[in-house]
Amino acid sequence: MPARPLVALLDGRDCTVEMPILKDVATVAFCDAQSTQEIHEKVLNEAVGALMYHTITLSRQDLEKFKALRVIVRIGSGYDNVDIKSAAELGIAVCNIPSSSVEETADSTLCHILNLYRRVTWLHQALREGNRASSVEQIREVAGGAVRIRGETLGIIGLGRVGQAVALRAKSFGFNVIFYDPYLPDGVERSLGLQRVGTLQDLLMHSDCITLHCSLNEHNHHLINDFTIKQMRQGCFLVNTARGGLVDEKALAQALKEGRIRGTALDVHESEPFSFAQGPLKDAPNVICTPHTAWYSEQASIESREDAAKEIRRAITGHIPDALRNCVNKEYLLLAAQWSNIDPATVHPELNGAAAYRFPPGVVGVANPGLPEPPVVEGIVAHGIPPVSHSAPRTPSPGETSKLDADREIPSDQ
Ligand SMILES: NC(=O)c1ccc[n+]([C@@H]2O[C@H](COP(=O)([O-])OP(=O)(O)OC[C@H]3O[C@@H](n4cnc5c(N)ncnc54)[C@H](O)[C@@H]3O)[C@@H](O)[C@H]2O)c1
Repeated sequence: MPARPLVALLDGRDCTVEMPILKDVATVAFCDAQSTQEIHEKVLNEAVGALMYHTITLSRQDLEKFKALRVIVRIGSGYDNVDIKSAAELGIAVCNIPSSSVEETADSTLCHILNLYRRVTWLHQALREGNRASSVEQIREVAGGAVRIRGETLGIIGLGRVGQAVALRAKSFGFNVIFYDPYLPDGVERSLGLQRVGTLQDLLMHSDCITLHCSLNEHNHHLINDFTIKQMRQGCFLVNTARGGLVDEKALAQALKEGRIRGTALDVHESEPFSFAQGPLKDAPNVICTPHTAWYSEQASIESREDAAKEIRRAITGHIPDALRNCVNKEYLLLAAQWSNIDPATVHPELNGAAAYRFPPGVVGVANPGLPEPPVVEGIVAHGIPPVSHSAPRTPSPGETSKLDADREIPSDQ
């Protein structure tokens, strides 16, 4: 039986959703690692595909440890935890699942915004602490700071998938919605009936509540800092369900203490997993935090995992990057291919492009798209790396981890 390529879930254990989609074309293993130091050598040497959440980071140094890797799929939309340019230079395609959790993240954002305006979390806390609100004076006291939403201006930074979903929801609550996104073409504001502002400063100056929905990249780390906070309206709210690195938490804590920002709700943090016991926000007032869970619902989680497994399947059975649906470093891959020093004569046009600039020719097997029975699938096998041993594939029973019996010695107890 020909060796099947190895696919590894890097920072998780449960592969029960992925297994049925991949079992006839790949061996699936899990690593449950928080860093590449925790990843088993067998995976570093042999994995051609990697699935990952956001709890592991892959820098260039990390990527260089993988000797056969050809494709990484982020089970989620953000891919700021992978150096996609270096990945391309190493011949590794990186994909995301852009549709992942758009509604959940937008709904969670609205929960945070409503919470700041209507103070639900803080009212709940007050009751828990034994406060009573029987007289209207007591109600005024305990609910003080609650604000009417209609007519308030919500400023959205980054009007992508989540930003747009937030805008649509916020309008129905009576917010006047403005946005700043320099990368979008003219006209988006018209199709969505929103007001666009030309500069970040305009957005900061005109918003009563600011919500962040831009991707984190090398240009916008600490987009919200002491300088930009000073451009905000006195006493505005700040919500972040995008990425922790967008906000300088030290500057935010100071602004909260001084009342320049009235309240903040954060799902993402500069350092995760977040703990109230540490970091600059530990003694700041009017903070609501959730542990990077804005994306989560059982349905969204399953859908993203299915989509991610299907993307890996496309990588194994098709051509990288052409067969991939959501390759986020395609341009870099093509550029790297263009400038690589491979002898063109050795690159067979039928072979997968990404393989050509990482491995010598003749090492890429492409599975028959029809997936014959019994499966005769070579998949993508790296040159010079010993084949992975496999037992016959089987579908795990519900609740069972997907780690195949035959793979128990692979990255098992990492
Ligand atoms: N907390 C969670 O659980 C969770 C879940 C899903 C997505 N996210 C994060 O939410 C953010 C938005 O996700 P998405 O799927 O809508 O992404 P997206 O790529 O569809 O949209 C991002 C938008 O931000 C814009 N942008 C980039 N830099 C900007 C800048 N400096 N100023 C203004 N706009 C800028 C882009 O032009 C783009 O339109 C991402 O950071 C993503 O990682 C978090």
